[in-house]
Amino acid sequence: MEEKRLSEKIRVLIPEEEVEIRVREIGREVSEFYQGEPVHLVSVLKGGVFFTCALAKQICVPVSLDFMSVSSYGNGTESSGIVKVTKDLDEPIEGRHVLVVEDIVDSGRTLSYLLENLKSRKPKSLRLCTLLDKPMRRVADVHVDYTGFEIPDEFVVGYGLDYMQRYRNLPYIGVVELDA
Ligand code: IMP
Ligand code: MG
Repeated sequence: MEEKRLSEKIRVLIPEEEVEIRVREIGREVSEFYQGEPVHLVSVLKGGVFFTCALAKQICVPVSLDFMSVSSYGNGTESSGIVKVTKDLDEPIEGRHVLVVEDIVDSGRTLSYLLENLKSRKPKSLRLCTLLDKPMRRVADVHVDYTGFEIPDEFVVGYGLDYMQRYRNLPYIGVVELDA
C-alpha cells in the first residue's frame, strides 16, 4: 500500500532578528530586577534550552544554571496536568533567586505543577520567564513575570519548540502548515 506523506511548510511568524532584540530587552529587565544579586536559571528541557542560553548571555548579574525535565500526560495535543518529573534539578534551590525559563506557556498546566513543586523547596524568590505565551489557551492560573511574545492559538516551532521532535534548531519562530 502506498503511504501518502503530508509535506510540511514552515511560515515565519517571528523572524530571528526580532527574537534576538526581544531576548536582549528581557535580559536587561532581568538584570535590573535582581540588582546585582545572583540569579539561578532553571531551564525546562528540552524546549527551554535554546531560549535559556540566549537569555543567559544577556544577563549581567551572576548567573548559574540547572535543568529540569517534566512530562505531561495528555491526549497528544492537550496536556492533562498530571505531570511527572523525568529529570530533577542537580542542586537544591533553597534560599536562591530562581528564574524558571520556558519556551511556551499554553494551557499553563505543566508550569502550574512545576512552580508549585519548586515553591515547596523554599527558594528566596521564584519568577517565570517564557519566550512565548498563548494567553487565550490558559486553563491553569500561572503568573508570568517576563514574556517574549504573546502569540495567537497556532502550533509553533523553532527556537527550542518542536513538532514531533523536529525543528527545535530553527533560529526563528514558525508555524507548521500541512498540505496534502
Ligand atoms: P501546557 O501545560 O499546556 O502549558 O503545555 C506546555 C507545553 O506544551 C510546552 O512546554 C510545549 O512543550 C508544548 N507546546 C504547547 N504549545 C506548543 C506549540 O505551539 N508548539 C510546540 N510545543 C507546544
Ligand atoms: Mg516546554
